Amino acid sequence: MSFDLLAPHYRWMEALCAAGQLQRCRTALLGAIPAPQQVLVYGEGNGRFLVELLRRFPDARVTVVEASVVMINLARARLQRSGLECAKVEFIHADALTWKPPTAVFDLLVTCFFLDCFRVDQLQHLVPTIASAATANAHWLHADFQIAPAGLRRVCSRVIVGVLYAFFRCVTRLPAHELVNVAPYLSAAGFTRWQRREFVLGLLFCDCWRR
Ligand SMILES: C[S@@+](CC[C@H](N)C(=O)[O-])C[C@H]1O[C@@H](n2cnc3c(N)ncnc32)[C@H](O)[C@@H]1O
Repeated sequence: MSFDLLAPHYRWMEALCAAGQLQRCRTALLGAIPAPQQVLVYGEGNGRFLVELLRRFPDARVTVVEASVVMINLARARLQRSGLECAKVEFIHADALTWKPPTAVFDLLVTCFFLDCFRVDQLQHLVPTIASAATANAHWLHADFQIAPAGLRRVCSRVIVGVLYAFFRCVTRLPAHELVNVAPYLSAAGFTRWQRREFVLGLLFCDCWRR
Protein backbone atom coordinates (compact mmCIF):
# COMPACT_ATOMS: atom_id res chain seq x y z
CA MET A 1 0.00 0.00 0.00
CA SER A 2 1.30 3.45 -0.87
CA PHE A 3 -0.28 6.87 -1.37
CA ASP A 4 2.93 8.23 -2.93
CA LEU A 5 1.64 8.12 -6.52
CA LEU A 6 -1.67 9.67 -5.60
CA ALA A 7 -0.31 12.32 -3.22
CA PRO A 8 0.51 15.05 -5.82
CA HIS A 9 -3.03 14.75 -7.22
CA TYR A 10 -4.89 14.43 -3.93
CA ARG A 11 -5.64 18.15 -3.52
CA TRP A 12 -7.14 18.85 -6.94
CA MET A 13 -9.05 15.58 -6.89
CA GLU A 14 -10.53 16.51 -3.53
CA ALA A 15 -11.46 19.98 -4.82
CA LEU A 16 -13.09 18.48 -7.91
CA CYS A 17 -15.01 15.67 -6.19
CA ALA A 18 -15.89 17.15 -2.82
CA ALA A 19 -15.47 20.92 -3.08
CA GLY A 20 -14.87 22.02 0.52
CA GLN A 21 -16.94 19.31 2.17
CA LEU A 22 -14.11 16.98 3.26
CA GLN A 23 -12.24 19.86 4.87
CA ARG A 24 -15.40 21.13 6.56
CA CYS A 25 -15.90 17.63 7.92
CA ARG A 26 -12.29 17.18 9.15
CA THR A 27 -12.30 20.49 11.00
CA ALA A 28 -15.95 20.61 12.10
CA LEU A 29 -15.35 19.79 15.77
CA LEU A 30 -12.04 21.58 16.32
CA GLY A 31 -14.02 24.36 17.99
CA ALA A 32 -15.70 21.93 20.39
CA ILE A 33 -12.66 20.40 22.05
CA PRO A 34 -10.46 21.83 24.80
CA ALA A 35 -7.02 23.07 23.70
CA PRO A 36 -4.77 20.00 23.47
CA GLN A 37 -1.13 19.90 24.53
CA GLN A 38 -0.01 16.78 22.66
CA VAL A 39 -1.75 15.64 19.49
CA LEU A 40 -1.24 12.37 17.61
CA VAL A 41 -2.44 12.47 14.00
CA TYR A 42 -2.57 9.28 11.95
CA GLY A 43 -2.47 9.40 8.14
CA GLU A 44 -2.52 13.21 7.92
CA GLY A 45 -2.05 13.26 4.16
CA ASN A 46 -1.10 16.59 2.56
CA GLY A 47 -1.44 18.76 5.67
CA ARG A 48 -4.76 20.55 5.22
CA PHE A 49 -6.09 19.41 8.60
CA LEU A 50 -2.73 20.05 10.27
CA VAL A 51 -2.71 23.72 9.22
CA GLU A 52 -6.16 24.32 10.70
CA LEU A 53 -5.23 22.40 13.85
CA LEU A 54 -2.16 24.59 14.42
CA ARG A 55 -4.01 27.79 13.56
CA ARG A 56 -6.57 27.01 16.25
CA PHE A 57 -4.14 25.53 18.79
CA PRO A 58 -0.75 27.24 18.20
CA ASP A 59 0.71 25.89 21.45
CA ALA A 60 -0.01 22.21 20.69
CA ARG A 61 2.80 19.81 19.91
CA VAL A 62 1.83 17.45 17.12
CA THR A 63 3.11 14.01 16.12
CA VAL A 64 2.09 12.84 12.65
CA VAL A 65 2.37 9.16 11.70
CA GLU A 66 2.21 8.87 7.92
CA ALA A 67 3.25 6.04 5.60
CA SER A 68 3.65 8.22 2.49
CA VAL A 69 6.84 10.25 2.26
CA VAL A 70 5.33 12.32 -0.56
CA MET A 71 2.38 13.23 1.68
CA ILE A 72 4.81 14.19 4.45
CA ASN A 73 6.73 16.47 2.08
CA LEU A 74 3.49 18.09 0.90
CA ALA A 75 2.35 18.62 4.50
CA ARG A 76 5.71 20.17 5.47
CA ALA A 77 5.57 22.51 2.46
CA ARG A 78 1.99 23.50 3.29
CA LEU A 79 2.97 24.30 6.88
CA GLN A 80 5.84 26.47 5.68
CA ARG A 81 3.64 28.32 3.19
CA SER A 82 1.13 28.95 5.97
CA GLY A 83 3.79 30.55 8.14
CA LEU A 84 3.18 28.09 10.95
CA GLU A 85 5.81 26.83 13.33
CA CYS A 86 7.07 23.53 11.86
CA ALA A 87 9.20 22.88 14.94
CA LYS A 88 6.06 21.96 16.84
CA VAL A 89 5.35 19.10 14.44
CA GLU A 90 7.18 15.79 14.36
CA PHE A 91 6.62 13.70 11.25
CA ILE A 92 7.13 9.98 11.67
CA HIS A 93 7.40 8.09 8.41
CA ALA A 94 6.04 4.72 9.48
CA ASP A 95 3.39 2.09 8.95
CA ALA A 96 0.75 2.57 11.62
CA LEU A 97 0.23 -1.19 11.71
CA THR A 98 3.72 -1.74 13.11
CA TRP A 99 4.61 1.61 14.75
CA LYS A 100 4.13 1.59 18.53
CA PRO A 101 3.08 4.94 20.02
CA PRO A 102 4.28 5.96 23.49
CA THR A 103 1.75 5.03 26.16
CA ALA A 104 -0.68 7.59 27.68
CA VAL A 105 0.97 10.72 26.22
CA PHE A 106 -1.54 12.36 23.85
CA ASP A 107 -4.64 14.30 24.90
CA LEU A 108 -5.93 14.46 21.32
CA LEU A 109 -5.97 11.65 18.76
CA VAL A 110 -6.96 12.33 15.14
CA THR A 111 -7.97 9.88 12.44
CA CYS A 112 -9.45 11.69 9.42
CA PHE A 113 -10.35 9.40 6.53
CA PHE A 114 -7.66 7.03 7.79
CA LEU A 115 -9.33 4.08 9.53
CA ASP A 116 -11.22 3.35 6.31
CA CYS A 117 -7.89 2.17 4.87
CA PHE A 118 -7.95 -1.02 6.97
CA ARG A 119 -9.66 -4.40 7.15
CA VAL A 120 -11.47 -5.67 10.25
CA ASP A 121 -8.57 -7.92 11.29
CA GLN A 122 -6.21 -4.91 11.10
CA LEU A 123 -8.57 -2.54 12.96
CA GLN A 124 -8.94 -5.05 15.81
CA HIS A 125 -5.25 -4.52 16.49
CA LEU A 126 -4.81 -0.92 15.28
CA VAL A 127 -7.58 0.83 17.25
CA PRO A 128 -6.40 -0.45 20.68
CA THR A 129 -2.83 0.47 19.70
CA ILE A 130 -3.89 4.05 18.88
CA ALA A 131 -6.00 4.20 22.06
CA SER A 132 -3.02 3.13 24.17
CA ALA A 133 -1.38 6.47 23.30
CA ALA A 134 -4.23 8.46 24.88
CA THR A 135 -4.18 10.14 28.27
CA ALA A 136 -7.01 9.49 30.73
CA ASN A 137 -8.87 12.66 29.60
CA ALA A 138 -8.13 12.40 25.86
CA HIS A 139 -10.42 13.32 22.97
CA TRP A 140 -10.41 11.47 19.66
CA LEU A 141 -11.50 13.21 16.44
CA HIS A 142 -12.56 10.71 13.85
CA ALA A 143 -13.89 11.66 10.41
CA ASP A 144 -14.94 9.27 7.68
CA PHE A 145 -17.54 8.10 5.18
CA GLN A 146 -20.62 6.14 6.19
CA ILE A 147 -23.33 4.16 4.46
CA ALA A 148 -26.82 5.58 5.05
CA PRO A 149 -29.23 3.24 6.89
CA ALA A 150 -32.01 3.05 4.27
CA GLY A 151 -33.66 4.33 1.10
CA LEU A 152 -32.21 6.20 -1.83
CA ARG A 153 -29.47 7.65 0.37
CA ARG A 154 -28.31 4.13 1.16
CA VAL A 155 -28.14 3.25 -2.54
CA CYS A 156 -26.25 6.46 -3.36
CA SER A 157 -23.80 6.14 -0.47
CA ARG A 158 -23.08 2.49 -1.34
CA VAL A 159 -22.38 3.42 -4.96
CA ILE A 160 -20.13 6.38 -4.04
CA VAL A 161 -18.19 4.44 -1.39
CA GLY A 162 -17.91 1.42 -3.71
CA VAL A 163 -16.42 3.57 -6.49
CA LEU A 164 -13.98 5.17 -4.03
CA TYR A 165 -12.77 1.80 -2.76
CA ALA A 166 -12.35 0.48 -6.31
CA PHE A 167 -10.30 3.56 -7.20
CA PHE A 168 -8.12 3.59 -4.07
CA ARG A 169 -7.53 -0.17 -4.16
CA CYS A 170 -6.38 0.15 -7.77
CA VAL A 171 -4.13 3.21 -7.30
CA THR A 172 -2.79 2.69 -3.77
CA ARG A 173 -3.20 -1.07 -3.24
CA LEU A 174 -5.32 -0.30 -0.20
CA PRO A 175 -5.86 -3.46 1.88
CA ALA A 176 -9.50 -2.63 2.75
CA HIS A 177 -12.34 -3.24 0.34
CA GLU A 178 -15.30 -2.03 2.42
CA LEU A 179 -16.17 0.44 5.17
CA VAL A 180 -16.00 -0.96 8.68
CA ASN A 181 -17.97 0.59 11.53
CA VAL A 182 -15.18 1.36 13.98
CA ALA A 183 -17.47 2.63 16.76
CA PRO A 184 -17.46 -0.70 18.67
CA TYR A 185 -13.65 -0.71 18.67
CA LEU A 186 -13.46 2.83 20.07
CA SER A 187 -16.04 1.94 22.72
CA ALA A 188 -14.08 -1.19 23.64
CA ALA A 189 -10.97 0.99 23.98
CA GLY A 190 -12.72 3.07 26.65
CA PHE A 191 -14.01 5.99 24.54
CA THR A 192 -17.56 7.35 24.45
CA ARG A 193 -19.00 9.27 21.53
CA TRP A 194 -19.60 12.84 22.64
CA GLN A 195 -20.45 14.83 19.51
CA ARG A 196 -21.23 14.14 15.85
CA ARG A 197 -21.56 16.37 12.78
CA GLU A 198 -22.68 15.07 9.39
CA PHE A 199 -22.15 16.45 5.89
CA VAL A 200 -23.34 15.75 2.33
CA LEU A 201 -26.65 14.21 3.44
CA GLY A 202 -24.87 12.04 5.98
CA LEU A 203 -22.28 10.59 3.62
CA LEU A 204 -19.51 12.15 5.74
CA PHE A 205 -19.32 12.37 9.51
CA CYS A 206 -16.98 13.80 12.10
CA ASP A 207 -17.20 12.32 15.59
CA CYS A 208 -15.56 13.46 18.76
CA TRP A 209 -15.02 10.65 21.27
CA ARG A 210 -13.66 11.13 24.75
CA ARG A 211 -12.56 9.09 27.72
C1 LIG B 1 -7.39 8.44 2.46
S1 LIG B 1 -5.92 9.28 2.92
C2 LIG B 1 -6.54 10.48 4.07
C3 LIG B 1 -5.62 11.65 4.20
C4 LIG B 1 -6.15 12.77 5.11
N1 LIG B 1 -6.17 12.36 6.50
C5 LIG B 1 -7.51 13.26 4.71
O1 LIG B 1 -8.32 13.57 5.59
O2 LIG B 1 -7.76 13.38 3.49
C6 LIG B 1 -5.14 8.12 4.00
C7 LIG B 1 -3.80 8.60 4.51
O3 LIG B 1 -3.34 7.65 5.45
C8 LIG B 1 -2.03 7.24 5.10
N2 LIG B 1 -1.93 5.82 5.46
C9 LIG B 1 -2.61 4.78 4.92
N3 LIG B 1 -2.26 3.62 5.48
C10 LIG B 1 -1.31 3.93 6.41
C11 LIG B 1 -0.55 3.18 7.32
N4 LIG B 1 -0.68 1.83 7.39
N5 LIG B 1 0.29 3.81 8.14
C12 LIG B 1 0.42 5.18 8.10
N6 LIG B 1 -0.25 5.95 7.24
C13 LIG B 1 -1.11 5.34 6.40
C14 LIG B 1 -1.91 7.46 3.60
O4 LIG B 1 -0.58 7.61 3.19
C15 LIG B 1 -2.75 8.71 3.43
O5 LIG B 1 -1.98 9.88 3.62
